[in-house]
Amino acid sequence: MILIQFTGLSGSGKTTLAENVSAMLLENGYQVKIVDGDVYRKTVCKDLGFSKEDRYENVRRLFNISRDFVASNYIVLMSVINPFEDLRNEIAQSEFVKTVFLDCHIDALINRDPKGLYQKALLPDHDVNKIKNFTGISDVYEVPSNADLILKTDSEPVSDSTQKLYQFIIDNLVTN
Ligand code: PPS
Ligand code: MG
Repeated sequence: MILIQFTGLSGSGKTTLAENVSAMLLENGYQVKIVDGDVYRKTVCKDLGFSKEDRYENVRRLFNISRDFVASNYIVLMSVINPFEDLRNEIAQSEFVKTVFLDCHIDALINRDPKGLYQKALLPDHDVNKIKNFTGISDVYEVPSNADLILKTDSEPVSDSTQKLYQFIIDNLVTN
């Protein structure tokens, strides 16, 4: 059993890496679930926004869901920004949880900006399209001080990060 709690800014590669690694694990006969913040925010977490309280509630709900999947023998990839150190540490107290930090420089994220969210976050205050409380721009992201694995997603190819994460999961599977 293993639950990967990702942490990393928007666009740092959480969804991509989770999908790549999930495909590899499935090919090798493992059961996998991806619990992605962006996806669950349309259903179970539909009532939540991006205030500090709502982000705590969001991550807690997703952890509860993830824990249930772990109990059913799934490898779980929890792809959320997960910006708060104390909450990550609280979650990491469960022995089957590993913290994976997707470390990507903010300039690279602003350059990539696949969803156009950074552009909107950087608009002037008076602009109606401006996104407020955007993590890394106008809202807090606490850099993890004790991640179990750090992947530099700005400087290494996705295939390398995928391979490292796959190997890390295999090496850290806790048998129940
Ligand atoms: S959190 O902080 O862990 O509760 O966030 P999470 O559930 O992972 O949701 C992040 C996705 O929401 C979109 N989005 C925002 N992100 C950060 N800040 C603000 N203000 C915001 N508004 C919308 C964005 O698509 C995030 O998806 P990813 O996959 O991280 O890019
Ligand atoms: Mg994503």
